[in-house]
Amino acid sequence: MVLLHGCCHNPTGANLDAGQWAEVAALMAARGAVPFIDLAYQGFGDGLEADAAATRAIADQFPEVLIAASCSKNFGIYRERTGILIALTERSRKDVVQGNLNFLNRQNYSFPPDHGARLVTMILEDPVLTADWKAELEEVRQNMLTLRRTLADELRRATNSDRFDFVAHHRGMFSRLGLTEAEVDVLRQDHGIYMVSDSRINIAGLNARTVPVLAAAIAKVTG
Ligand SMILES: Cc1ncc(COP(=O)(O)O)c(C=O)c1O
Repeated sequence: MVLLHGCCHNPTGANLDAGQWAEVAALMAARGAVPFIDLAYQGFGDGLEADAAATRAIADQFPEVLIAASCSKNFGIYRERTGILIALTERSRKDVVQGNLNFLNRQNYSFPPDHGARLVTMILEDPVLTADWKAELEEVRQNMLTLRRTLADELRRATNSDRFDFVAHHRGMFSRLGLTEAEVDVLRQDHGIYMVSDSRINIAGLNARTVPVLAAAIAKVTG
């Protein structure tokens, strides 16, 4: 079993292109691995369809695939923790797979809360609500891309280097900036800027006012 993030990798922010996905798929096929795809940020990277492309390609190529698709982020219902587990298998193994899923369901929660799933169902069964949701999700995605581009531009200006250009090419909510733990400590102590010790930041937590402040502080601690 190989666990993969379908798009917008958390924590790194790296996003494989089609060629890289093909290489990963070839490697898994050679090793006889079962892909387990965690798709938690569909719609946050290059769009709803584009973000599912790698998952679909792998589902087409492998006889057995597990896909955990989350709605927590792309429907803005994080505290409902809503999603779906899809198990793809050959028809002859359907009963075994269903039996295992039933067992795991019983062991884990038996009857999970239904509120988030009902909200998602209501939206996806109504074309007007679905169109609204897609438009809002696209706005969120574009906002994150703009923040990525402005942060990369500000960092280029402030550090006078292309070291952080990758921030604009990353996708999704997160990027790991590649700062040392000591530099993260200085950002916290001297600039009041907090991030995970591995220098992962949440791009969606920034705004037009805070991007230049962050870039200037990073330039100072890395300069
Ligand atoms: C890659 C990834 N998968 C899954 C989850 C959790 O998804 P859910 O809210 O559906 O449990 C997260 C974050 O919350 C995540 O970053």
